[in-house]
Amino acid sequence: MAVTRSLPVDVIKALQDVATVNLWPSDTPPTQPELIHFAQDATALICLLTDSINGELLSALPHLKCVSTVSVGADHIDLQACREAGVAVGCTPGVLVDATADLTWALLLGAGRRIVEANQFVKDDNWHFENRWQLNMMLGIDLAGKTLGIVGLGEVGQAVAKRAQGFGMNVIGYNRSPKTLAQIEQVSLDQLLQRSDVISINVALTDDTRDLIDEQALSKTRPNVLIVNTARGGIVNEEAMLASLNSGHVGGYASDVWAKEPVDVNDPLFNHERVLGLPHIGSATHSTRIAMANRAIDNVRKFIVDGTVRFSALD
Ligand code: GLV
Repeated sequence: MAVTRSLPVDVIKALQDVATVNLWPSDTPPTQPELIHFAQDATALICLLTDSINGELLSALPHLKCVSTVSVGADHIDLQACREAGVAVGCTPGVLVDATADLTWALLLGAGRRIVEANQFVKDDNWHFENRWQLNMMLGIDLAGKTLGIVGLGEVGQAVAKRAQGFGMNVIGYNRSPKTLAQIEQVSLDQLLQRSDVISINVALTDDTRDLIDEQALSKTRPNVLIVNTARGGIVNEEAMLASLNSGHVGGYASDVWAKEPVDVNDPLFNHERVLGLPHIGSATHSTRIAMANRAIDNVRKFIVDGTVRFSALD
């Protein structure tokens, strides 16, 4: 078995109990040729979302029968190519729901109340006696009584909704196939765009959701809307988002994820004064990352026993 990045020590030990483990020796991801060389004899591969598992790689790894990613998202894996090559694909749903929902709220509150900007204001020595408390200083948005629209009512979307109750927000949601959920009024995407004061994107990136929030979608949103993205950068058309921020229509964009990661430090969207940007840390808590690694090895353990993974990304 090949593992493309160091995992927690206990997790590696548990892996060694069930298979011979070949561990990539660095925290820098392997290039594709390096990965092909490194995983040449592997029947199972544990990878991260920074490893591109494409058709070319699959054809170059003739023994590979199982890919287990330490992530819930599988958009870095060519799922169709895996199906065709008979390669099982495991992912890690369930264990990163709360961490990602918490970060969604951190972004929502951070952007809505200008937390980073206010902190920088003081650090830059701009807080003086004459401006020590001003009626119009660092004004943000209220949440109570406002409408939060959640795009994607999977586990994370539902956890974001649950937290909204504590803030007194009305929650509406859009899911491609409607679900039975008591607390969330389900609406069409157009209605969600038209009615929401804050929009949270919590849908997986697929061919259907790429550029879902494009120029046309943004033109339907309320003036001054705040959009939060903890899903994938590619769901938002970043050029359209920048144009809408520049025109003054969208009020703010708070995102953990970018179409191209790492985002360029000079990227005009990332640097926009009404953008709060993070480096893809939605699931980055100690216990969540351990749980994700364990779930990824559970997938491989089950694969070794009966040829199927516990949490399949191919379903
Ligand atoms: C993180 O983005 C994940 O897909 O697990």
